Amino acid sequence: METTLIILKPDAVQRGLMGRVISRFEDKGLQIVGMKMMTISKELAAKHYESHHGKPFYNGLVSFMTSSPVLVMAIRGMGAITVSRKMMGATFGSKAEPGTIRGDFGVSSSFNLIHGSDSPEAAERELGLFFAKGEVQEFKRAGEVWVYDMSGGKPE
Ligand code: RTP
Ligand code: MG
Repeated sequence: METTLIILKPDAVQRGLMGRVISRFEDKGLQIVGMKMMTISKELAAKHYESHHGKPFYNGLVSFMTSSPVLVMAIRGMGAITVSRKMMGATFGSKAEPGTIRGDFGVSSSFNLIHGSDSPEAAERELGLFFAKGEVQEFKRAGEVWVYDMSGGKPE
């Protein structure tokens, strides 16, 4: 099982899209194990996007991410990192396929609604930046055995 960091960015919160985006992850069968609203500080944005430091879009990206509250989620499931990235679609709504979150809810080539970790290493690092110890929950869902085939002893 993987856990990934998802951020509903300021545009998603301001446009009232939180519920519909959360529903997509729940509908998919992924488990929400952490969630909070916050306003990201410049320092936290800089740490989160440190790999983009120096790129032409970096200053605009940090301004955008700190401009208004976001919803941060920890989402768990088999292949949760890749599955979530597929659900998000290409980086900007102007290019993202219909059926994806960015493809269905946005048309901008700058504001893009959602962040998702892009590797297990990134997920671990980013979850550590946004969630304190104990803030990500461990719990068994009652319906887990109907989300995954557990007949072989592990989720399929
Ligand atoms: P994210 O990290 O937010 O999940 O998005 P991503 O993997 O699809 O895209 P990434 O290449 O990691 O870029 C991080 C964020 O920077 C902004 N960006 N702007 N103007 C540009 O060319 C440009 N390129 C990237 C986007 O907000 C992107 O989500
Ligand atoms: Mg990225």
